[in-house]
Amino acid sequence: MTKSSLRLALIVLAGLMVGAAAALAIFPEARERLLPASAPSVGRALVGGPFTLTDQTGKRITDKDFRGRYTLVFFGFTYCPDVCPSALQVMAAALDKLGPQGQKITPLFISVDPERDSPAQLASYLKSFHPRLVGLTGTPAEIEAVTKAYRVYVKKVADPKSSAGYTFDHSAIIYLMGPDGAYLAHFTHATSVDAMAERLAKLLH
Ligand code: NI
Repeated sequence: MTKSSLRLALIVLAGLMVGAAAALAIFPEARERLLPASAPSVGRALVGGPFTLTDQTGKRITDKDFRGRYTLVFFGFTYCPDVCPSALQVMAAALDKLGPQGQKITPLFISVDPERDSPAQLASYLKSFHPRLVGLTGTPAEIEAVTKAYRVYVKKVADPKSSAGYTFDHSAIIYLMGPDGAYLAHFTHATSVDAMAERLAKLLH
C-alpha cells in the first residue's frame, strides 16, 4: 500500500467511524443493529438501579422486591403498535421454552407512557402475553427516573393516527438483570426465541 492510498484508507475509516458514532447517538434502531445481541457484563454499573413504581394490581413495588430473582426488563407502552408486542411475545415464549429454569426469572414490563398506562390498563394488556408478567407504571417523575437508570431512549412524538395524538419512539432492549439487581445481558425484540432461551439457560445459575 502506498503512502497516499494508506492515507485515503485512514480517511475513509475515520469517516465510517464518525458515521457509526453519529448513528448510535441519533437512532436507537441503529444502536440495536450495531450493538451485539448480548453484551458481556463489562457495563454492570451502567444499567439499572433503584426504582419505586406501581404494579398492575396497584401495589407499590421497588427494585428490592426482586432481589434474589432474575428479571427480564422491557420498557414500552400498551398502545405501541408493533415493537412492544413482539418483544413481549419473545420474552414469554423464551421463558416457557426454558421450562422450570424459566421460573427463576420474573418478566417486567415498565411503561414509558404513565399518562395512558394505568395499573388497570397494564393488567388487561399483559394478561394475553404471560401469566407471570409484572407490569409497572408510576408518576411521570418515577418513570423518568427509571428510564434514565436503565438508559432507555424515550421520545414522545406527535401521532395524528393515535386517538391521544401522540406515540413514543423508544429503544427496544430487553435487559437480563441478576439476583443482585446488576445488569447481566441484553436482547432486543428481534432476538429469536431460541437464541434468547439458549443464552438465558447459560446465564442462569
Ligand atoms: Ni413499543
